[in-house]
Parts: sequence; structure tokens; C-alpha cells
Amino acid sequence: MARTPRTPPGSPFVGNVLRFARDPLRYLDAVRDAYDDPIVRLSGPGGDVYLVLSPELVRQVLVDADAERRTRRDGGPGDPGYVKADLRPELTEPFLGEGLLNSEGGSWADQRGRLDPAFYAPALRGYVGSIREHTARIAEDWRGEPDRDVHADMTDLTVRVIAETLLGTELDAGDVATVEAAMDDLSESFGPSLSRAVLPSWAPRRRPAGFDRAIEDLDALAGRIIEGHRTPDPPADVVTTLLAAADAGEIAERRVRDEVVTLLLAGHETTALVLTYAWFLLSGDESGATTDRLHEEVDALDGPPDWEDLDSLPYTEAVVNESMRLYPPVWALFREPRGDARLGDYRVPAGTPLILPQWAIHRDGRHFEDPLSFRPERWLERRPTETAAYFPFGAGPRACIGRGFATVEAKLVLATLAREFDVGVHEGKLDLDVAITMRPEGPVGAQVSTRSS
Ligand code: HEM
Repeated sequence: MARTPRTPPGSPFVGNVLRFARDPLRYLDAVRDAYDDPIVRLSGPGGDVYLVLSPELVRQVLVDADAERRTRRDGGPGDPGYVKADLRPELTEPFLGEGLLNSEGGSWADQRGRLDPAFYAPALRGYVGSIREHTARIAEDWRGEPDRDVHADMTDLTVRVIAETLLGTELDAGDVATVEAAMDDLSESFGPSLSRAVLPSWAPRRRPAGFDRAIEDLDALAGRIIEGHRTPDPPADVVTTLLAAADAGEIAERRVRDEVVTLLLAGHETTALVLTYAWFLLSGDESGATTDRLHEEVDALDGPPDWEDLDSLPYTEAVVNESMRLYPPVWALFREPRGDARLGDYRVPAGTPLILPQWAIHRDGRHFEDPLSFRPERWLERRPTETAAYFPFGAGPRACIGRGFATVEAKLVLATLAREFDVGVHEGKLDLDVAITMRPEGPVGAQVSTRSS
């Protein structure tokens, strides 16, 4: 008999989902440590939300259920499969629309097939020049002014790279400021993304202040990016591919805007966060052993790393992987079953939102030895894909399309800057804001100095 998951104590009226929403990361840690259960039920006025704490069940949702559904004849018994749980539809729709992150079914599959080639190795190789150029620009800034906000610098770098490489557009400082202000407003608007469970279904769902302006600004920028491609000789990039599909009637006109906004935001914010967290973690490495080992690797290069050097940077990659373990930019995924489902020993009623939290699973001592220590070496011994307990890019068919892009970019940026600079982040602890991504609450101040000095 399938069971219903246990539920941690909460108030009789608003359940425990509010406790989660108030401080999701601390709550996740506490529930994981107090319960050995693979699934825990949170309850709120808007209904139940299941928290999945077992890596095997996460894999079941993201990978196996999908495979099972594909191989089954329609209408047969078995796992109904899962779709993304949209906990703030009143915000997601105007923001991401039918973009790749948010679409489902055939509409998603066609679009993924259309965009995949822009993320294959030959395409990635073509983006390296832009990554190197913008990293060199940041290095120049660091030489001139050593008092930095590394999160702002990494964001400036990654947003310009994504716009230039995938969207064929050079952004100016004003555009970068617009995107970042929009990101701040959107993060604030989404909060911990749980209103569907926190609010009863009849409660009015207002859009927070700042949300509409953020969307207007992003729409205007996306419009300019798209217009810039309506020339006789447009660049061979994602926007041109999408416009051709729209002109051929394969996708709606609006879809081009949705994808431009999706790629612009999903393609820079997360990578900037990984780099920021990597600098933070390296700064906190008191023995200096991790930094020494990183230096040893990057100093062996003949110059700033290029595409050909990527394979010579295993330790740099391990630093990136370990940073994403401790500080996953995407802290949780959200899914819901299409119909009544069974997950492990548990019954999951149709439509119950599931939280699959990278944050809690990546920091679980049952899966990682000494889980709170920053130890990149662990990724020299085992590959990130070897364990279901590590999924910074998600898993299964909906896994991140930009995984290779992000890995190449993070390795090149980290290695290039680590060759020349020591980075000392001032704060010993980061206050984190939890929304769609997990971001530092304010600037991440750091002192940078050239290593020979
Ligand atoms: C370290 C950097 C990154 C991290 C940690 C990250 C994380 C993720 C995760 C966890 C998902 C799955 C979401 C889900 O299953 O609900 C995802 C999907 C996605 N990511 Fe990334 N991402 C990163 C970089 C990028 C980059 C560089 C791009 C674009 C250039 C990108 C574009 C996307 C898109 C379009 C999707 C939706 C894919 C689909 O559903 O087909 N991401 N990302």
C-alpha cells in the first residue's frame, strides 16, 4: 500500500509551508537533518507540497518517469510522468511565456531540437573569443580599481557574453544596468516561489511592484535585439534561427521574444553566480591548499587559457563543480505529476507540487563526506554524473541546455583571472536571497591584487 508522507509540525491553520517560505534554506537543512524520510509533506492553506529528499526519487522524477512514459503505449498503466510545477503562473507567463524553460510537450521538444545545435561543441568553440575578450576587459578593470563587487563584475561579464554569442548583440553599460535592475525586481517578485501553497486558491494574486516595469524593460531590449536581426545579412545565431522559424510559420512571433528573454537571463545569471561563489569559497580557504593547487594548474598554461586548454584544467573544473555543490545557483526544481503517481513507497496525488532541492541534497552527509567543507578534490575522484545526489544542471530531458556553455565559460574565466589575481572576498558568510535562483543579498565586496605584488 502506498503511503502518505509524514509532515513536520506546523500551525493548525497555516501548516508548515509558511515556515519554509520564510527561510527556505534553513528549513530545508532542518527537515533533512530531522527526518530520514525520502519524502516529507509540507502543508499550507493552498494545499500540500512534497519535499523530495532522496536522490533516487529525484532521479525517478526527472529521468526514469520520462523514459518509462516514452516507452509505454498511450493509456497504459504506470508512471504518468511529471511536468514543471508553475507556482507563480501569474508571473511566469508574462515573464518567460513559451520559452524553453517554461514550455512543455511537443512545443518544448521542437524548440529544444531547434536550439540544441547552438550548444554543441563546434558552436561553443566559436564563443570562446567573446569569453576571452570580456574576461580581459574585467582584468583591465581589476588592475585599475582593486576594490570590487565580484558579483557585479561576473554578471557584467556573463551578460555581455551571452548577448554577443547567442543573441548577436553588443550590450552597452545602460543595457547591462537595465537587465540587472530587471533581475533584481524579478527575484524580489518571485520570492521563494510558493504562493500556490501559501495562499488559498481564492486569494487574489497581485503582481508585486516593480514586476511590470521589469517586463516592459526586458520586452524593449528583446525587441531591439530582434529588430537588429531584421537586416539582409543577419548574424548566424539563435535569433536568426528563431526568426526563420517564425517566418516559416513554425512558431509564433511572440515565441522569439520569449526565447530571447529566457536565454538572456538563464544564460548569464547562473554562471555569474557560480563564479561569484567560487571566488567566495576560494577566499575562505584558510589553509590556502585549494588556491595553491588551482594556481599550480593555471600557472602551467602558456597564457590566458583558450579552447585547446580546457582539458588541461581538471582542478579548475573541480573548483567549479564543488562551488555548485555547496552553492547551487538553482537551489531547487519544481515538478508535479500529470496524474496520480507513485514515488517510491508514496502516493502522490495528481498536481501535487514537488520540491527537488539541490541545496539540501548536495549538503547531505549521507551522500558527501564532510559535506559542508569546500573540497574540490572530491571531483577528481568521482565524476559529477556518477551520483544522483549532484544535479546542479537538473537531469533528464529537461536538463540545462547551457551546461556545456556554462562549464566552458566558468573554467576560462576562473583560470584566466586566477593566473593574475588574488581575490579576497570581505565577507566570511554570505546572506542569500532565495527566488528562482539563489543569489547574494547585496554586493559581494572583494579586494583584488595582482599575484606577483
Ligand atoms: C552554471 C550555470 C547554470 C546552471 C547552474 C543552470 C541550471 C539549470 C537547471 C537546474 C535547469 C533545469 C531546470 C528544471 O529542470 O526545472 C536549467 C535549464 C535551462 N538552462 Fe541552465 N543553468 C546554467 C547555465 C545556463 C546557460 C549558460 C544557459 C544558456 C546559454 C542556460 C539555459 C537554460 C535553459 C534554456 C534551460 C531550459 C532547458 C529545457 O527545459 O529544455 N543555462 N538550467
